[in-house]
Amino acid sequence: MSDQAAAVRDYDLFTLEATADPNGFLHRVRAESPLSWLPQLDAYLLTRYADINAALRSSRMESADMSRTLNRLTPAEQEELAPVRRSIEMWMGHTVPADHLRFQKLLKRYFTPGMVDRLRPRVRAFTDELLDVVASKGQMDVVRDLAYPLPANVIAELLGMPVSDREQLQAWSRGILPIFGNGDLVQLREAQRSMVEMHEYLRLIAAERRRTPREDVLSMFMAAEAEGIVTEDEAVANCVLLLFAGHETTANLIANGLVLLFGNPDQLALLRADPDLTPLAVEEMLRCDGPAGVVGRVACEAVELAGQTVPAGKHVYLALMAANRDPDVFPDPDVFDITRERNRHLSFGMGAYYCLGAALARMETDECLRILLDRCPNLRPAYETPDWLPTAPIGHRLGSLPVTF
Ligand code: HEM
Repeated sequence: MSDQAAAVRDYDLFTLEATADPNGFLHRVRAESPLSWLPQLDAYLLTRYADINAALRSSRMESADMSRTLNRLTPAEQEELAPVRRSIEMWMGHTVPADHLRFQKLLKRYFTPGMVDRLRPRVRAFTDELLDVVASKGQMDVVRDLAYPLPANVIAELLGMPVSDREQLQAWSRGILPIFGNGDLVQLREAQRSMVEMHEYLRLIAAERRRTPREDVLSMFMAAEAEGIVTEDEAVANCVLLLFAGHETTANLIANGLVLLFGNPDQLALLRADPDLTPLAVEEMLRCDGPAGVVGRVACEAVELAGQTVPAGKHVYLALMAANRDPDVFPDPDVFDITRERNRHLSFGMGAYYCLGAALARMETDECLRILLDRCPNLRPAYETPDWLPTAPIGHRLGSLPVTF
């Protein structure tokens, strides 16, 4: 780093320390250099709760362009992947503020408390159906058999996709993820194929919903199209965003949450004894191991963060996972305590880009855990150490979660 070298230290997120124990590593970074510099990623990293909270609320910090992975490719490769970029650029968080507000207003027509209540019995039914499939085996991989298909089914319902196409939705969801990964060209081509296929598919459903509206997001988008508020391209691109934003995240919360319960048998016993603690337990899971560990921002103008000046145009990673374990805000931050009060974690973000699906994700996780614990009184982990896979730029997700019951 140039002139700020004395105050802003450099760190490497690709070390064993950072990948094996991301929370321990971030404790060290927070204490040593609350605003730090990541040379390999050409970005700053913010780790204190107060600074991250302020940055999330700041109008001088814009949501970062998620097509950064594409920017690192050659011009010819970028040309080949232009359809992906065009689509991502229509995602609500990446548009100029006026368009972002237009999409927010529109989607809030659908994302209401009433929608969450309407979907609740469907979530219960999906959870039961998924557990029925494995019930007689007495074992399952929670990631594969429950945590991934459940939110995929919910999003399929939300988009108005027929039941028979739900597995396809999961495949597309897996397919598009590398767009935000390490820039491997083969994977990016594959991701583009998934995205283009999903667009084509959604256009067909959109045409049906124009003729015969139902109570789903695409019907809502098509009504807005008729009012001249949104184009078909924008509607379809933002349906893909909903899949991206709502599938892996919720799946990881369910799976990470279970690992936390298995790792803290006293808390699991407490929850089994009093299932009314489930909403608090879900908040504590979000705090201790929320699936969106880091969000990206770009400084629109020079901005002061953690007492330092970040120049305009610079990329800043906000480590929500570090904010959520900041000892200045959370007593005993590394203790998983499902009775924790005043749990003001930042796992759904804050401010202008606050998660639109927060209430839905909370409800899905709540219902899933209640049913799982109720139906499986002998639920036990069938692993020695959890199957953590590293995620970019820091954090982890589970590759599998074998259990017996
Ligand atoms: C546990 C599950 C989830 C977590 C941890 C999560 C986390 C987040 C976070 C941190 C943001 C803010 C991103 C930023 O500040 O740049 C966000 C935004 C968003 N989330 Fe979620 N999310 C979850 C589930 C969902 C679900 C189920 C949906 C919808 C189906 C959804 C839809 C969205 C959308 C549309 C945005 C963009 C909002 C905007 O730009 O105004 N999320 N989410």
